[in-house]
Formats: sequence, structure tokens, C-alpha cells
Amino acid sequence: MDDAKREAARAALEELPREGIVGLGSGSTARIFVEELAALVRAGRRLVGVASSESTRALAASLGIPLLPDEGPWSIEVNVDGADEVSAGLDLIKGGGAAHAREKIVNYASRRNVVIVDASKLSTRLGERWPVPLEVLPFAHGATRAHLATMGTPVLRSRDGAPVRTDAGNLVYDLRVAPIDDPGALDVRLRAIPGVVETGLFVGRADVVLVAGASGVERLERRR
Ligand code: A5P
Repeated sequence: MDDAKREAARAALEELPREGIVGLGSGSTARIFVEELAALVRAGRRLVGVASSESTRALAASLGIPLLPDEGPWSIEVNVDGADEVSAGLDLIKGGGAAHAREKIVNYASRRNVVIVDASKLSTRLGERWPVPLEVLPFAHGATRAHLATMGTPVLRSRDGAPVRTDAGNLVYDLRVAPIDDPGALDVRLRAIPGVVETGLFVGRADVVLVAGASGVERLERRR
């Protein structure tokens, strides 16, 4: 699996500009991309990163990648990030690492978005493989959960007996839903609930998806 992730990450290097600003995603595949990017920077490529999480910031800084501050705005040429699920229409579920709110901000600030996955992430419709992660304010999260329960089965994400916190200190609910026919409409409904900070539905936000499988890396491009 790690070999496939590295293959996809290496293929993403071909999508980068000669020089400029690159969005750095989060998660295990994005981490491998950051390692590969660091090798380019050491070799003299003038590439500067925008980190989508504290862990990515720490990794990129430790590897010597110059980084812009979190405040923005940034003029990002290409953003490279992983995903938990990729539909046939190249929509995404993200947030397995609880970084989806910041990842979405970096995605929206980027001219092009390149997604790197192994073939296990592909599905026909979103929701077949993963629940939808939601970053939720801690205040009144029980009330928010009750609203979410009208749309699926919300589960508060926890690790070692404690709720998972995002980099912003918020909670994460994973909303189990039936396979999603219209992810854009669901995204709008979820974001209309007060207390939902951001969803892990990335609809129409991938320009290129690089899928590493048994026969190499397949390059899928979104039709506009
Ligand atoms: C982080 O919150 C996520 O959106 C990740 O990008 C996603 O979970 C993919 O992670 P892996 O590359 O570790 O599967």
C-alpha cells in the first residue's frame, strides 16, 4: 500500500510548476508527497509550501521546505492532497485525518488541485466506503448531533477514549449515510446546520486524480 502511495506521490511531482507556491495536503499519502517535494527543494527547485495542518507544517519544516504563514491569502499554483474516497465523478470524501476544514481552504485557494490515492479509494458513489467527516463546534454539539441524525448516523470520533480534536480545537463527527446521489446538495444541507464548521465533501474540487494501482499510475482528469 505504501508503495502505491509513493508512486502516486511521485507522479504528482510532474504536475508542479518550475517554481512557485504549492499546497501541501495532510494524511499518509500527502506526507509521502511532502518527502518527495523536499528532495526537489534540496536539489534547488524554488518551491514554497502552504501547509494544510499542523502535522504537515511540522514535517515540511523539518525537511527544509520553505513555508508561507497560515494567515493567507496565498497564490497557490497547485495543491496536492490525498483523499479517503473518490467517486466516478471525481468528487471526494476527505477528513480521515480530521484536517478537512483546513484542507478545503487550501484547496479553494489553489488554481489546480491534484489528488493522490491508491486504487482502494475508488468507488462509484461517495458514501459507499466512508462516512462523511464533519468538523463541529464543541458548543452544543449534542444539538448539532441531533440535527445530523436526521440525515444519517453520526458518530463522535474518539481515540484512546477521548474525543479527537482538530487543529482548531473542534470535534469531528463521522456521518454514516447511504451512497450519495447528489453530494453537492448534501454538502449544502450539512453546512446549513449551525455548529457544522465544514464537511469532508469536496464536490468538483479535484482537477486531476492520480490513482496508483497494479498497472501503474492512472491520470484521471475532471471534465469541465
Ligand atoms: C486528512 O484529514 C484527510 O483528508 C486525508 O487527506 C485523507 O484522509 C487521506 O489520507 P491517507 O492518505 O492517509 O489515506
